[in-house]
Amino acid sequence: MSEPLEFAVTLYPEPLLRRTAEEVTTFDDDLGETVEAMYQLMFESQGVGLAAPQVSLGRRILVMNAEGDREKPELNLTLINPRIVERTGDKMLMEEGCLSFPGIFAEIARSEDCVVEAVDVEGQPLRLELTGFASRVLQHEYDHLEGVLLVDRMSPADRLRNKTALGEMIEDYKERQAQV
Ligand code: CO
Repeated sequence: MSEPLEFAVTLYPEPLLRRTAEEVTTFDDDLGETVEAMYQLMFESQGVGLAAPQVSLGRRILVMNAEGDREKPELNLTLINPRIVERTGDKMLMEEGCLSFPGIFAEIARSEDCVVEAVDVEGQPLRLELTGFASRVLQHEYDHLEGVLLVDRMSPADRLRNKTALGEMIEDYKERQAQV
């Protein structure tokens, strides 16, 4: 038996987070293991969603559980090659965080409702109408597949408020690079 996959969260400003992720074309055991390891990391990190670029995989895979509760697997949503086909309802402001930006929060405007089409881990098509917090989580994770990050969606005021913390993340990244 091979070792179970173990991922770590890729942190800002790692350039991989900026790439547009590529479509998944092979639905095999590797994909299933990747998805399982992503859930594992998401729950361990007390997140409600995780996109493959956050584990340094440039593929269009996201997992979410809007309550971040591993005891509620019925809330798990695995979306492969998702497309947001509709965004409707009012734009709502709500404070968001991101596992790639630990300790940083900002008010982000998102459409209240969205419709997403994707396939599941076996390649079966699915279409979901999401609302409220689940809709927000999906839109946030979908941004990751497009290389769009929390820092891009922040208001200038939030960017200013988080300026020191963001600067420290950039410094930490440079230090990690220097050690490689
Ligand atoms: Co995020």
